Amino acid sequence: MQKRYTARMRAENDRHFAETGKRRGAFVMTFGCQQNEADSEKIAGMAEAMGYEIVTAPEDADLIMVNTCAIREHAEQKALSIVGQYKHLKAKNPSLVIGICGCMVVQEHRKNDIKFRYPYVDFLFGTSSLHRFPQLLCEKLEKGKRLYCPEETEYQVAEELPIRRESSYRAWVSIMYGCNNFCSYCIVPYVRGRERSREMPQIVKEVTELVQSGYKDITLLGQNVNSYAKDSGYPYDFADLLAELDRIPGDYTLRFMTSHPKDASRKLIDVMAASRHIAHQFHLPMQSGSDRVLAAMNRRYDTAKYLDIVSYMREKLPDVTLTSDIIVGFPGETEEDFEGTLNLLRAVRFDMLYSFIYSPRKGTPAAEMEQVPQSVKSERFDRLLALQNQIGTEKNQTLVGKTLRVLCDGVSKNNDALYSGRTDGNKIAFFEGEPTDAGRFVEVTVERADAFALYGKKV
Ligand code: 5AD
Ligand code: SF4
Repeated sequence: MQKRYTARMRAENDRHFAETGKRRGAFVMTFGCQQNEADSEKIAGMAEAMGYEIVTAPEDADLIMVNTCAIREHAEQKALSIVGQYKHLKAKNPSLVIGICGCMVVQEHRKNDIKFRYPYVDFLFGTSSLHRFPQLLCEKLEKGKRLYCPEETEYQVAEELPIRRESSYRAWVSIMYGCNNFCSYCIVPYVRGRERSREMPQIVKEVTELVQSGYKDITLLGQNVNSYAKDSGYPYDFADLLAELDRIPGDYTLRFMTSHPKDASRKLIDVMAASRHIAHQFHLPMQSGSDRVLAAMNRRYDTAKYLDIVSYMREKLPDVTLTSDIIVGFPGETEEDFEGTLNLLRAVRFDMLYSFIYSPRKGTPAAEMEQVPQSVKSERFDRLLALQNQIGTEKNQTLVGKTLRVLCDGVSKNNDALYSGRTDGNKIAFFEGEPTDAGRFVEVTVERADAFALYGKKV
């Protein structure tokens, strides 16, 4: 059915091109996680199939799609602020169509915000309707009215959507969608629905095609990637999928994110240790180092279980890069709970941390609990960063003198005298490179390091 709408839009956009000599432009703005980045590549793919040219500036667009995030208040405010800035573009070009999709607009209160405060936004649809984008755009244009797509009650796995990949050597592959965990602070299960997994043969086919067309770094994505297939009753699990993908011949690296400690099995770690292509990298959100807080978060593991996974992982993969997520100032977090988190950081010594100040999300249980004052949250956040800065620096400095394989991303965005890339452990490395290095593996000897990056010489 979507193919029919795509063809209809394509015919209209081709006619416009024939008349004016210029293709209509589509601009996609993305907020949030890698899953959203991957969804945006599908939005761009569908727009291209509908005859739009993908443009890099909103000023050049006839269609703007904003793919939103709801994980924290800050992400929502940023998206709303961008949408606010597009108002003047619509004044200049009344035929401009603006759509908002993604996690933020699944929430009723945000739908209402947009309805009343952003009257120039033309259509909205949530994560369950991503695959229906051609139909919704078509209906919006043909009916001329604002369109609010109701959420579908059945979330499906939509295969075969066109994808316009941003990179020619790094790729995202979504393998499962949604989350069943209902951590008490998190909005994801409400805005992305229940877990559903793609079937292994489809994933193997996609990854094989990527490797054959020269992709070097492939990240398997899911909100809860290591519970892959549990929802579907398939006769295989995440470790089996990794083992199968690892058999694909070629020179490439496989990664995955994000994992939940409750599903981080020994089998999975064994598969990683025996593999040829799976990066020795694990992102394993810990969230807190207090068992009391972990229980209130509904995380279903305790610090002992977490430490057990880490110790097995370090035994089997001694050079593993281990990163984590921490929430500071979860409701009811005491000074003692917070010190538990600092102590766990000292015990585990993560290579890098993504730390977040707790942000109440409407409709989640934690938003109703007793909140920690903002000043206490900020003060704890600063202490956490200072400790991690020290640990991260020390960990990276142990790599000085080592030669590492780095996938080069070209000239650094922050320092145009240097090239940058990512190591097998996904650490950022800076070095003096040359244009032909982009998209290729190079060997870099590390000369110095700080908490965030390695600096070295190409061998
Ligand atoms: N407030 C702060 N951080 C949050 N995260 C999820 N929900 C919230 C929230 N309400 C963090 C968790 C998760 C990461 C993606 O975002 O650490 O692992
Ligand atoms: Fe959110 Fe928890 Fe699901 Fe992760 S596992 S998406 S933190 S509910």
